Amino acid sequence: MTVTTKSISRKITWMNMLVSGTALLLAGAAFFAYDQLTFRQGLVHALSAQAQIVGSNSVSALLFNDPQTAANTLSALKSSPNIESAAIFTYDRRSFATYLRDGGIEALNLPPLPDPQKESYWFRSTHLILARPIIFQGQLLGFVYIRSDLREIDKRLRRYAAIAFGVLLLSLVAASIVSSLFRRSVVTPIVSLAEVARSVSQDKNYAVRAVPSGEHDEVALLVEAFNEMLTQIQHRDDELQRGHAELERRVAERTRELLVANRELEAFSYSVSHDLRGPVDALNGFAYVLSKEYSRQLDDKANELISRIRGSGRRMMQLIDDLLNLSRVTSGAMLREPVDLTAIARAICDELKTSSPERKVDFVIEETSKVEGDPRLLYVVIDNLLRNSWKYTSNQPAARIEFGVQTRDGLPVYFVRDNGVGFDSRSSNRLFQPFQRQHSSEEFPGNGIGLATVQRIVRRHGGDVWAESEIGKGATFYFSLSKPKGIPSTSVTSPS
Ligand SMILES: Nc1ncnc2c1ncn2[C@@H]1O[C@H](COP(=O)(O)OP(=O)(O)OP(=O)(O)O)[C@@H](O)[C@H]1O
Ligand SMILES: [Mg+2]
Repeated sequence: MTVTTKSISRKITWMNMLVSGTALLLAGAAFFAYDQLTFRQGLVHALSAQAQIVGSNSVSALLFNDPQTAANTLSALKSSPNIESAAIFTYDRRSFATYLRDGGIEALNLPPLPDPQKESYWFRSTHLILARPIIFQGQLLGFVYIRSDLREIDKRLRRYAAIAFGVLLLSLVAASIVSSLFRRSVVTPIVSLAEVARSVSQDKNYAVRAVPSGEHDEVALLVEAFNEMLTQIQHRDDELQRGHAELERRVAERTRELLVANRELEAFSYSVSHDLRGPVDALNGFAYVLSKEYSRQLDDKANELISRIRGSGRRMMQLIDDLLNLSRVTSGAMLREPVDLTAIARAICDELKTSSPERKVDFVIEETSKVEGDPRLLYVVIDNLLRNSWKYTSNQPAARIEFGVQTRDGLPVYFVRDNGVGFDSRSSNRLFQPFQRQHSSEEFPGNGIGLATVQRIVRRHGGDVWAESEIGKGATFYFSLSKPKGIPSTSVTSPS
């Protein structure tokens, strides 16, 4: 608050001082210039008059070649203290008589006159020189030369400077007094307005109001408009708060409803899968018995059909087990303990290598720090991703599968990358939904349940999973265990 008060009033004081000081300096300079001009002209007139007197008094001295009389005439100039020296020259510019104020013997020279019939003068830095022809009955007899110092001008200059300085000082004092008088009526309301604005922006309290100044000026209008604006903001803020609260209530309600529906759905799918298992198991068993016990009594066609029944039964059993596993992933308590993802990745890679030793796959496993989570569930995540990479690089003669970690927005993001067949990320944004596949079972076997399981597990850990891929250029699956900002929820994108 004090900073604002000081700065505005200081600015007003400085402004007043600067304006009055500048105006005063400009007026003083103009007046001084004019005065200099008229004073110089007056000086020339006075010197010219004296030269005229000296000239006419020296006519006879020149006519009768009497330098002494001319010197006497010149000495009358003693009464003018400004005149430093004077001289009479003959028409052919020879020195005839000389006067020097301090009685010296300086030789004076007549400067060349532009027109010898006319008076001429020269202003030098320290003195003024005037030369005038002495003409008698139309004939040029000689010249009067007078040199005056400019002491008077210097004196006036100093006097002016002193006066200007004094007036400037006085005006600055007056300006500061005037501005302090205006502070109360102009600055104080603005400062209190600024204070209210600051408290509104800081505390978001739209109930405060600026105090009207009681004057009828623009500042009062500003205060009034500001208060009106605050009223409107307060009104909208209240509405917004109400809307927000209502929205939150509805979201909470919908979430509750959704959770209940979801739980019911999960329970339903679990019990259906569970209940289906028995009859399917029986069907498989009977089909097995048929194929074993009665194969000889049946013809080839019947045996072929039984074998197909058994294949479909096995597949159905696998699907039911997958569904049951998917349900188990989201149900039940979740552990929270340090898990070494690198160790899990290494164990799975070793297992894969032993399962098909003929395959040439280059595994690159990066060392990562331990994470907090459920070891059993996180094993399922890495297992699914690495097995996918293993499966979708099976056509690749020099396969490469990587597991590593990156940092995004300060959070670790784990990835599994391969150089396999990849997939079209544009047409497939449903990979993470159960039974959604991009490749046929003939091409690559599978049920399309792996990524759905991965997504459920990472989401239970508070993270997300997404992928980047291009057909024929491999795929990278990223997952986090806490959600980084700016990363879309489960999505598939093309690498840029
Ligand atoms: N590394 C990968 N490279 C190419 N395509 C992939 C890769 N991982 C997954 N996909 C695609 O995503 C689909 C879904 O994967 P998901 O793991 O859910 O199912 P699956 O591997 O086909 O079967 P399951 O995992 O249930 O045995 C796959 O069918 C495949 O089209
Ligand atoms: Mg899979």
